Amino acid sequence: MNELPNPDELDLCLLADRYPLRKRLQGLQRLMADQPAVAEGLARFRESFERSRAIVELRRATLPQPEFPPDLPISQKWQEIAGLIATNQVIVLCGETGSGKSTQLPKICLTLGRGIFGRIGHTQPRRIAARTLANRIAQELGCQPGTAVGYKVRFHDQVRPETHIKLLTDGMLLAEVQQDRFLNEYDTLIIDEAHERSLNIDFLLGYLKGLLRKRPDLKLIVTSATIDTERFGPGLHKLNETVEYSPNRMTPLRRLGQPFEVAHAVLFLCSDESSYITGHTLAVTGGR
Ligand SMILES: Nc1ncnc2c1ncn2[C@@H]1O[C@H](COP(=O)(O)OP(=O)(O)OP(=O)(O)O)[C@@H](O)[C@H]1O
Ligand SMILES: [Mg+2]
Repeated sequence: MNELPNPDELDLCLLADRYPLRKRLQGLQRLMADQPAVAEGLARFRESFERSRAIVELRRATLPQPEFPPDLPISQKWQEIAGLIATNQVIVLCGETGSGKSTQLPKICLTLGRGIFGRIGHTQPRRIAARTLANRIAQELGCQPGTAVGYKVRFHDQVRPETHIKLLTDGMLLAEVQQDRFLNEYDTLIIDEAHERSLNIDFLLGYLKGLLRKRPDLKLIVTSATIDTERFGPGLHKLNETVEYSPNRMTPLRRLGQPFEVAHAVLFLCSDESSYITGHTLAVTGGR
């Protein structure tokens, strides 16, 4: 039915129609000639589309339901922290050593449904920490290492398509920027131990500052072990911000209004100069 007539068959038509019909026939023949390529392209497109959807469904179906150990300061505030993450693009979280930043933050992100369309990337300065933390978080979530929680460090890639939380060194994340400058693998990034101020972390924060504008869906959480009032306090005052800090409760140090005025919060960690990363800075006191 859809087969085109042989050009010779046009001789059966009116003279007046033969020329325009011949032209249309030639056009249709060109389209037909391309059809295998179009069909192949469509099939390949559908395959990629279905593969991508299947991973989303798998991650959605296997999204862990975290529980929070009640004795950790971060756990006690998890709902409040979740609310801040939900409503800000950037969070700077200061908490004392052992308060639960590294182990609980990625779990808090899971409760917001993050880790499905993109992973939660969680950086550590050192490979050993990335590995042990991945195992620890997997254990707390009751899953096998390398499933919902995986790690990627030099020479070891234990990340699967279904992995929600990916631990990696900050150096590795920096290397990944060269492959994917939008870091589209991730919907959330936790830059842990920012107080260490390594060259990698400084580079990353500088890069992420620019990326946040292009990726409004990306959440950035920066953690620091201490609120070093000596170091941060003067910086905050210099920025003409009110510092509220009361022991034993989480206190917003400041709430910055507009997204992308972000740099205030993050850059006080890595520079004395004020620049503009937005979000919310908070401190959790207590720890082990
Ligand atoms: N691999 C592990 N095995 C056993 N307990 C662990 C492990 N990792 C963390 N913990 C415990 O979990 C609690 C929270 O630790 P976590 O690493 O989340 O704190 P943190 O705020 O990130 O501390 P830091 O600033 O030192 O990195 C601590 O009591 C710690 O001892
Ligand atoms: Mg930690």
